[in-house]
Amino acid sequence: MLSIGSITLSSPLVLAPLAGYGDLPFRILCRRFGAGLCVSEMISSHGLAYGQPKTVSMLVSCSEERPVSFQLFGADPSIMGEAAAILASHEPDLIDINMGCPVKKVTKRGAGAALMNDIGLAEKIVRAVVDNSTCPVTVKLRSGPDNNNICAPDFSRMAEANGAAAVAVHGRTWKQGFSGEADWQIIETVQKGVTIPVLGNGDVQNYAEAMSRLQQHGCDGILIGRAAIGNPWVFSEDGRPENLSAVAGVVRQHLALADTHFNEPNRCLGSIKNHLGKYFKGFPGSSKVRKKIYQQPDFNSLQACLHLIS
Ligand SMILES: Cc1cc2nc3c(=O)[nH]c(=O)nc-3n(C[C@H](O)[C@H](O)[C@H](O)COP(=O)(O)O)c2cc1C
Repeated sequence: MLSIGSITLSSPLVLAPLAGYGDLPFRILCRRFGAGLCVSEMISSHGLAYGQPKTVSMLVSCSEERPVSFQLFGADPSIMGEAAAILASHEPDLIDINMGCPVKKVTKRGAGAALMNDIGLAEKIVRAVVDNSTCPVTVKLRSGPDNNNICAPDFSRMAEANGAAAVAVHGRTWKQGFSGEADWQIIETVQKGVTIPVLGNGDVQNYAEAMSRLQQHGCDGILIGRAAIGNPWVFSEDGRPENLSAVAGVVRQHLALADTHFNEPNRCLGSIKNHLGKYFKGFPGSSKVRKKIYQQPDFNSLQACLHLIS
């Protein structure tokens, strides 16, 4: 059983943070299909500290999805600390610090994977977040900035020494982005240097692969990212059903959850459509279904359109 600080998870399989996808309705579905924990999309520490309504609106959860981990990004230790204190009032179960995102708009401000070039600054950030949190704090890393500097083992030790309760390691460098294959040996090396749980991440496609990665590399948990998009069944042994009507049934659950948890689903229509289109990948006629989904002008018509698929 995987425990992170005081939080014990029902499964070692965790939904990785996915900007644009890791919203509350999707996280609930991943929990329904067996994920032990879901990490939110990355949340801007500046946005929280300055009370930006769009950022604050990302701090939603509900009893069905708990435990939940909210992920913060930023490069300023005092703002990260302030954001952690604001988060604390929303009673998260865990807070994750993003040190792995390679997206330019994040790294050009020194945040995300760019932090892996500056262990001193990264340390101040971990300290500030831990000091201002009332729950366990985790850190998500890449293997390093590039192949000449594979520093995840040093970063993991630094994180543990500063109070982090677990680390998650994506076995690619910042420079690699999403190219090539994840290096799972680095995840094993990280584990040898720390006593806190280590979650491995990178390229896991299905439940069986997740289980064999757990065994093979001896890590404590697995983060699944891209393979979960449109596929919350990735967390369950049976995987995605083969018949379209079973899939459509879950898509309708997704819409019902969006209806319940989004104040104004029409304002999130683009993101909801992105989710829905992904569920039908690989089925005959899926491009037609996707086209139909994207043609719908509002949430009600989207719901009506989904009721016609069986
Ligand atoms: C669409 C997308 C959005 C992502 N958003 C985040 C994010 O908000 N925070 C983060 O730390 N990583 C983010 N990642 C990286 C994933 O969490 C994960 O580390 C990466 O996709 C590798 O895992 P996978 O091979 O299972 O997809 C994102 C990846 C994708 C594809």
